[in-house]
Amino acid sequence: MKQAFGRTPDGATTDLYTLSNAAGMRAQITNYGGIVTSLLVPDRAGRFGDVVLGFERIDGYLKKHPYFGAICGRYANRIAGGRFHLDGIEYTLARNDGDNHLHGGIRGFDKLVWQSTELAPMGGAALRLACSSPAGDEGYPGKLDVMVTYTVTDANELRIEYVATTDADTVLNLSHHGYFNLADGGESEVLGHELLIDAARFLPVDAALIPTGELRAAQGTPMDFTRGTAIGARIDATDEQLVHGRGYDHTWVVNGAPGQLRFAARVHAPATGRVMEVFTTEPGVQFYTGNFLDGTVTGKRGAVYRRRYGLCLECQHFPDSPNQPQFPTTVLRPGQRYTQTTVYRFSVA
Ligand code: GLA
Repeated sequence: MKQAFGRTPDGATTDLYTLSNAAGMRAQITNYGGIVTSLLVPDRAGRFGDVVLGFERIDGYLKKHPYFGAICGRYANRIAGGRFHLDGIEYTLARNDGDNHLHGGIRGFDKLVWQSTELAPMGGAALRLACSSPAGDEGYPGKLDVMVTYTVTDANELRIEYVATTDADTVLNLSHHGYFNLADGGESEVLGHELLIDAARFLPVDAALIPTGELRAAQGTPMDFTRGTAIGARIDATDEQLVHGRGYDHTWVVNGAPGQLRFAARVHAPATGRVMEVFTTEPGVQFYTGNFLDGTVTGKRGAVYRRRYGLCLECQHFPDSPNQPQFPTTVLRPGQRYTQTTVYRFSVA
């Protein structure tokens, strides 16, 4: 089902799609930025509630906001100094996060109006989004064609499949930037949520949140989430990494083989019983505790989004990979096909 979602400042019309499954799970997604504006899933009493932060109307998304629910690209997360070398050529990107490039730049994929088509797969409902990013877009080489398919499956999953191709060598790292709060959709802190990340190692960062290049063992540190632990249990420890992140804002190295869809993380909100499991083909997951939310943005139902009222589990390649040759490559060449599958599965416990 589709309804009008309003116009962008340059006059483009946008739509809001509603995808539901047989069990009543419902996602609303706009082709503006590929943003998931709401996601209704049941709690342990069977009551449906919205578990993502965002806005009811397009106006909120047209103002500056921290990528609520959006598709980030061409490069999700940071590229140090807003520059990288590829095939001996230096490319310069916007520096929109201090000295660094963040989430694709000034007009990233989160601000594009995507072409959209509703699909009716077996056992669910889907929306296909497509965009073509011209060579030089935000400084990146190559004309890039991207397709993102969101599916609400009958297994209570939000499934996101990405495909991209280029006509010249380039770098690419796509991600979905949903902010989740399984208790109330963003009306209180997520510190009581219990989190498990299937990762023995994480990427330490410097004070500007650029990875140092090390893959560090998480065991024995506040970064160890191999057993379900309350997010708030150690978040204010005087650990160098938590100080740099102002909380958690790091990439974990998901155990198992990148390229295979495998379990990455599980979040449980004891108050409502809601559980979200994350599966991905990506090498990493960025766990971010909404440390930059500061109460200046008011969202759905009049909720004021304060510090740590939402959490992100952004499945992606490692930040700054174009400058860190020891990280899994983010280079995409003509004739190659970029693919990613990430699944957010909901249940109760
Ligand atoms: C990502 C980053 C954070 C922050 C948010 C957007 O999750 O890792 O540092 O920039 O996006 O506010």
